[in-house]
Amino acid sequence: MSDSDPIGIGLAGFGTVGSGVWNVLQRNGGLITDRTGGAVRLEVRRIAVRDPGKPREAKAPEALFTTEWKDLIEDPSVDVVVELIGGTDHAFELVAAALEAGKPVITGNKALLAERGVELFTLSKERDTPIHFEAAVAGGIPIIKAVQESFIGNRIHTIVGIINGTSNYILQRMTEAGLDYPAALAEASAKGYAEADPTLDVNGWDAAHKAILLATLAYGFPIDPKNVYVRGIEMIKPLDITFAKELGYVVKLLSVVREHDDGAVEIRTQPSFIRRSHILAHVNDVFNAVAVSGDGIGDSLFYGRGAGQDPTASSVVADLVEAARVLKHTAGHRGFLPYRETGTLVPIADTETASYVRFPVTDRPGVIAEISQVLAEAEIGISGTHSPVDPDHPDADFVEVVFLLHTCRFGKLKRALKKIEALDCVTDRPVVFRIESLT
Ligand code: NAP
Ligand code: HSE
Repeated sequence: MSDSDPIGIGLAGFGTVGSGVWNVLQRNGGLITDRTGGAVRLEVRRIAVRDPGKPREAKAPEALFTTEWKDLIEDPSVDVVVELIGGTDHAFELVAAALEAGKPVITGNKALLAERGVELFTLSKERDTPIHFEAAVAGGIPIIKAVQESFIGNRIHTIVGIINGTSNYILQRMTEAGLDYPAALAEASAKGYAEADPTLDVNGWDAAHKAILLATLAYGFPIDPKNVYVRGIEMIKPLDITFAKELGYVVKLLSVVREHDDGAVEIRTQPSFIRRSHILAHVNDVFNAVAVSGDGIGDSLFYGRGAGQDPTASSVVADLVEAARVLKHTAGHRGFLPYRETGTLVPIADTETASYVRFPVTDRPGVIAEISQVLAEAEIGISGTHSPVDPDHPDADFVEVVFLLHTCRFGKLKRALKKIEALDCVTDRPVVFRIESLT
């Protein structure tokens, strides 16, 4: 390939992100060529979709469309394959086939890389064919490049982030517009933030997949998703948000990756209370923020749009330029290369924070005392309790009681909660939020 040859792109997926990539290339393709001194010209040569007849806002020539992603692999004019179909089955086959064929891959598919990345990165290494995945974490924020390249000389101490735009958007709309959960989710889907199946957005797994990718880059060993603690936002009620507010906190879905002194890595994703004065508490709407702390950089913060068409397409296009440069100048293998066979994860039971626990209960005399008794026996300190009552009907039954608990090991808390769940007065499983003391 000569310096002036265009790079042929096979685009698998022409949905929210795929059509965004098309638009960016139409809009800024010439700018990219200018900025690379004429070296990089990007041309989409095939587009794979499920239904070519579907009405689409972005207009690409009909002749480019196919329903067979294999056409992208077989077409000799396609140099680079962009996987934006989502899921872990067809997407896996497509990415593996592209690598086998020696075609570099760009993907925004965090579920695929977190669940099956080890197989794919091994193949990538064997074939000396890179996988680029900037769009897989935090949409338009260049956090992969930062962790993988800019911070390569650091030992990473912590990565703490709000890395799911949909859940952040939902929490914000519930907090400020008073929307209920289904209405807020419908808005996030309409804006193109949510996944085709939003289950992973709201159950915490989309953020957890991203945290797994960041942790593997920072600590160098593959992490099995089965060993990662994940809770989502589906259980959050307006009551939790209001109560957090009264206490000076904001509720966020937070992903925490932290290296302990013995080298073990803590990794978890769950709804958390964050002090209102903390910078992460001000990350609203679809925005994401990732705070990285390392021995060289100290504290750093990355902030930007974490989902949506244009921000995500921006990251995909940056990867396309990188892939084009590598193709032309053979700059070597990129992607996640495990450099340790295994590593140790901190059991979730050994992690420690203060917490907020909401218990669904039957109102009768002694309920709070019974729960407090179990907590006291477990030597878990209580910093406050609250049972919301209607000021106009102070004698009406309450159905929820919340406890603020001192910092303790999560395992200890879980054992106590199991005993509390067995009390007659407790009607359902308690809902737990971490209270993070972030610096
Ligand atoms: P989407 O809007 O649902 O688009 C998916 C596209 O893939 C559609 O064009 C669909 O075709 C096509 N497709 C699905 N299965 C296919 C198959 N087997 N063969 C050929 N084409 C197939 O999804 P998206 O929001 O663009 O997301 C794509 C990927 O980017 C996902 O991995 C997602 O996690 C990731 N991502 C999304 C965002 C975001 O903000 N949306 C941000 C970061 C990363 P039809 O159009 O004919 O249905
Ligand atoms: N559904 C994802 C989110 C898209 O809301 O963050 C970006 O990965």
